[in-house]
Amino acid sequence: MASRILVPWALVESGREILRRSKLGVTYLHGSAGELPTLEELVKAVKEADVVLPRGTQRVPREVLVANPALRGVANYGVGYDNIDVGSATELGIPVTNTPEVLTETTADLAWVLLMAAARKVPQTHNFTVSGRFTGPVGPPFMGIDIGPGGSNRPKVLGIIGFGRIGRAVMRRSRGFRMKVIAYDPPLREMIEKTQGVEYRELHELLKESDFVTIHCPLTKETHHLIGRSELELLKPTAILINTSRGPVVDEMVLVSALKEKRIFGAGLDVYEKEPQLAPGLAELENVVLLPHIGSLTQDTRNQMAIVAAKNAVAMAKKKKPRNLVNLEVLDRPEYLQKMSG
Ligand code: DGY
Repeated sequence: MASRILVPWALVESGREILRRSKLGVTYLHGSAGELPTLEELVKAVKEADVVLPRGTQRVPREVLVANPALRGVANYGVGYDNIDVGSATELGIPVTNTPEVLTETTADLAWVLLMAAARKVPQTHNFTVSGRFTGPVGPPFMGIDIGPGGSNRPKVLGIIGFGRIGRAVMRRSRGFRMKVIAYDPPLREMIEKTQGVEYRELHELLKESDFVTIHCPLTKETHHLIGRSELELLKPTAILINTSRGPVVDEMVLVSALKEKRIFGAGLDVYEKEPQLAPGLAELENVVLLPHIGSLTQDTRNQMAIVAAKNAVAMAKKKKPRNLVNLEVLDRPEYLQKMSG
């Protein structure tokens, strides 16, 4: 029987086109307005599939992976893959892929959008203006923080946590602002030290020294609550925290307290600990810019992500090694070799 690819969401047309051209069987599973299936529905549908192509934040827990012993691929539509139980996938001989590169520049842009909007209080001043309250000179409530050297000509310090592709793209954009860039990423320490225009710092040093801290690390056991109470206490009162990676990297409740008590200047967030729910009190704060996880949400980038994810899915359905494999160890698993030989 022809291979079947299960797409449990409303995949973008550019990806559908790749799947159509593959001539493989494809099943779409979602509501008429794009609602995602329940876990139960996903478990049931995966039994009939060879490969599943979930969207970035759609959970694929062990329960889904074990439901079909013949499953031979999960092609995630997203660069982050913490939504998938990759450990179980590897154990079961299931390759997992993601969509790196195509979203790097777009996500780096959004980190800068948040940084600039938080520093210059853009949403707050926009709301003020459109609500008809701009009736004379404005001052202190909207006083911002300089991104460039400002009147005092002091270059600002940009602290980058996670120096992968997106972190590096964020760094490139800082040049126009004449910033000093420091970065923390233990596995990439050597690369940071060899990169011109950036200096390595341990996490506590980076937090103390930065005017802006921007997070670009994946969510793993090690990075869960990497920014907690003691880390937030190290930030300057004028510091701004930006997170476009994954919500649980920051302890959101502790961040809400720090912002409420004005222990830091502000935060710009695109991701949340219990997404799509926000921590109590977060939305009421006046020193935050909050976006609904739109880091890669541009037409061009989403089209490309869909193409990459669909090509990975087709490769795995055809028992070929996919381009963007994240669990390389799977290649040595007897379970994987068995699935590929059948
Ligand atoms: C990604 O690609 O990781 C985006 O955050 C969407 O999940």
